[in-house]
Amino acid sequence: MIKKQMLDEFNEQIKLEMESAYLYLAMAAWFDGRSLNGMGAWMKAQATEEMEHAMRFYDHILDRDGKVVFEPLGIKKTEWDSPINAFEDALDHERFITSRINHLLSVAQEHKDQAAHNFLEWFVNEQIEEEATASKICDDLKLVGDSGYGVLMLDRELGQRTATPASGEKGA
Ligand code: FEO
Repeated sequence: MIKKQMLDEFNEQIKLEMESAYLYLAMAAWFDGRSLNGMGAWMKAQATEEMEHAMRFYDHILDRDGKVVFEPLGIKKTEWDSPINAFEDALDHERFITSRINHLLSVAQEHKDQAAHNFLEWFVNEQIEEEATASKICDDLKLVGDSGYGVLMLDRELGQRTATPASGEKGA
């Protein structure tokens, strides 16, 4: 059975992953509203992955006889100044989520919760990838100057993305 502090932290993480999905859907709506539908599609794929992340915590809690609690979601922002402003916010957000995963790992270590520790290792690798991807898009947007033809080309490229759950993912 999962300990209360770990359970509370994991329920909080369900909320944060769902808020991540909300944030990326808000960004998708912002991009789609400006006819940058490739970037909008990229954000929608990202939102789908965030919901899958939440469901990993959901499954882990239930597998360990814990109670899943859904807290109300908050959404802090719905407008951005430019494509790069949105992707920089996405990168900042992923850095925050990485800090949360590190915090969860420290709680697991404190409670000698090996099951939680093993479970969280997937997220450590996922966060490396998520930060690297957002960072690369920010670099590309800086290169093309955040406007004009370069943005349109990047929009097309990002529109190729589909949500890619890891192989063997439970419930994905
Ligand atoms: Fe679930 Fe993008 O971190």
